[in-house]
Amino acid sequence: MVTFFLLALLFILLLNPFPAMCQIGREGEWCLLHASIGISAMHMQLLHNNRVAMFDRTDFGPSNLSLPYGRCRYDPSDNVLKNDCTAHFLLYDTGTNTFQPLMVGTDTWCSSGSVLPNGTLVQTGGYNDGDHVVRALAPCNDESCDWVEFPGYLSEHRWYATNQRLPDGRIIIIGGRRQFNYEL
Ligand SMILES: *[C@@H]1O[C@H](CO)[C@@H](O)[C@H](O)[C@H]1NC(C)=O
Ligand SMILES: *[C@@H]1O[C@H](CO)[C@@H](O)[C@H](O)[C@H]1NC(C)=O
Repeated sequence: MVTFFLLALLFILLLNPFPAMCQIGREGEWCLLHASIGISAMHMQLLHNNRVAMFDRTDFGPSNLSLPYGRCRYDPSDNVLKNDCTAHFLLYDTGTNTFQPLMVGTDTWCSSGSVLPNGTLVQTGGYNDGDHVVRALAPCNDESCDWVEFPGYLSEHRWYATNQRLPDGRIIIIGGRRQFNYEL
């Protein structure tokens, strides 16, 4: 009986992706899930499938997280690193405590975003080559999702803007640095 109990406990511990120190559900306590995820999570957005989108910036040199499949971003307008094989975005899966790096082509530093009713994350603007870009990420439950970027889609550059989803599903994008206007 004791052996059975110990085996069952071992099985649960092996299946549990979270460190033993971290008791999910216990309130009022922080716990460390990863010593490092390789990027600085400057913006975060929880998606409908319980994955958290985390953005770094692209104009600050390499991150500590490599892009998968040998992908690299070549951007002649980048201020620091024109050929960058590291990730500046990842999807963190709260269910498995794992994360997946994805390539984002333009600088999301101080961009802004909203989630559409169907779960697609729309992230707009940013810095330098990213300031007129609209990006869309449809969430997936495997490794197949990726960013689709629409360069020049914003009518004004948006840095530090505010996004809000409207009841009809459109997104209003208000202001941003030196922008005293809005667009839908
Ligand atoms: C990357 O690794 C270096 C050296 O360990 C560390 O100083 C730096 O803070 C790390 N950066 C990120 C974004 O994890
Ligand atoms: C989500 O909605 C947007 C806007 O209507 C649409 O462009 C996009 O294709 C939809 N995505 C999915 C995965 O259905």
